[in-house]
Amino acid sequence: PSPKVKEVIQAHLDELQYYPETGSPLIKEAISKHLNIDPARILFGAGLDEVILMISRAVLTPGDKIVTSEMTFGQYYHNAIVESANVVQVPLQNGEFDLDGILSEIDNDTKLVWLCNPNNPTGRYFTHDALRNFLERVPSHIPVIVDEAYVEFATAKDFPDTLALQQEFENAFLLRTFSKAYGLAGMRIGYVIAAKEAIEKYNIIRPPFNVGRLSEYAALAALEDQEYLASIRERNAE
Ligand SMILES: Cc1ncc(COP(=O)(O)O)c(C=O)c1O
Repeated sequence: PSPKVKEVIQAHLDELQYYPETGSPLIKEAISKHLNIDPARILFGAGLDEVILMISRAVLTPGDKIVTSEMTFGQYYHNAIVESANVVQVPLQNGEFDLDGILSEIDNDTKLVWLCNPNNPTGRYFTHDALRNFLERVPSHIPVIVDEAYVEFATAKDFPDTLALQQEFENAFLLRTFSKAYGLAGMRIGYVIAAKEAIEKYNIIRPPFNVGRLSEYAALAALEDQEYLASIRERNAE
């Protein structure tokens, strides 16, 4: 992480006895300004792992269905199974997400669609036009959750601007984390950007003090140091 993160953590070491503010208001405001979105559309978790858990628990009941790809991040699958939901994993096509195949599996029982872009573990991505075309064809009441955990490393010009697509498609939800390019995996802090009503629903599941106090300060310092992030992107590209 940015060296400024370590400084900030040290500066707050005398606050260990205090609970964090519920709902991570400082980093929520900072992200809302950084991305120019309404803070009511953001919800923080102890990493995306907890965000994926909260969404799954808030939405899924036994017998519901999720649709995703094979060879993608395992927690979409894991949390669906915990909620006794059914999972459809559409095979990759030439190593890439088969968005048409995923679309053809969406039916009345489908409550969540999970996409990962760029994908873990294959490192492949789908384009802005492909995502737009997909969203045009998914029924608008079904959340399409695009996990962009690695978005900071995606440099392709045709990589989706999912935030822009959210203006058009209210059911396009976005996951981001401080674990990867920001180097804060140990601090456990990530977030979902979704429609306000969805955030209210997920927030019922959120434990009151889910993101630690130092994690919030660490994320704030990391976000502020965009120069350092740029250097990480450059070194990773090399
Ligand atoms: C695609 C993807 N989503 C989510 C996560 C979970 O990240 P976090 O550390 O924010 O819980 C990972 C971590 O490996 C990941 O690869």
